[in-house]
Amino acid sequence: MPKQGFFSTVISGIRERYEQSLLQDIKKEPLPKHIAVIMDGNRRYARQLNVTSDEGHLLGKERLEEFLDWAYDIGIKIVTVYAFSTENFRRDSSEIEYLMNLYAKSFDDITKDERIRKNRIRVRLIGKTDLLPGYLREAAKRAEEFTKDFDKYLLNVAIAYGGREEILDAIKNISKEVKKGNLEPEDIDEKLIERYLYTGEIEDPDLIIRTSGEERISNFLLWQSAYSELYFTDVYWPDITKLDLLKAVRDYQKRQRRYGK
Ligand code: FPP
Ligand code: MG
Repeated sequence: MPKQGFFSTVISGIRERYEQSLLQDIKKEPLPKHIAVIMDGNRRYARQLNVTSDEGHLLGKERLEEFLDWAYDIGIKIVTVYAFSTENFRRDSSEIEYLMNLYAKSFDDITKDERIRKNRIRVRLIGKTDLLPGYLREAAKRAEEFTKDFDKYLLNVAIAYGGREEILDAIKNISKEVKKGNLEPEDIDEKLIERYLYTGEIEDPDLIIRTSGEERISNFLLWQSAYSELYFTDVYWPDITKLDLLKAVRDYQKRQRRYGK
């Protein structure tokens, strides 16, 4: 193993101590149950390293695996990640194809991943799945089927996802039920709408993290984010560290959640 320089040894020591002290603090207060993540900055990160955008996405995938380990490890029950928006279909066809293949491979890996089985992580694809290639829908279906009875953690992967489209789909499906006479307009309340969203009846995200310095929601979980705390960090997604996650959680714990009171 190459010998670490003096300064990097000192810095990693400081980082580790900081992580430990943050972890201690975090354990004293309620954790966010559901964290949603806008993983942004893969291509800018790639540019910085002078590698291709595809390599940036691949590094992003590797970092996501680590991020999930950190999150479940500290006790976060639900993670929702924004992997591909409906707007992302405007990108070059070669980039879209690369990403679709990467997602399909990731779903296939899930069925072989010991950590998924051991940690009992249920995985779901959320989004306008009819816009996706058949091989990806099938890989996702296999992963969903394989994990359907796992009940300790939940991972939602948003692909071909748009918050407005999700609400529109819910409205259309509810209207069909009203037309058929199965529902009265008076029956439509928040709970019912939630049932018709892609996310279904799960807790709303307590905390939404966006990387890369952009401070927007970009059509992500529009209905579900009504009361979420938002946390923005300048770090590019493939460069995110455990310390960044711990800082986001600690920051969330320090804020007073008031729900308009
Ligand atoms: C945003 O960076 C990233 C994406 C559009 C793709 C997200 C995909 C991953 C993190 C790969 C792994 C995901 C799964 C679910 C296996 P960008 O392309 O917008 O980069 P930029 O903001 O620097 O242009
Ligand atoms: Mg981006």
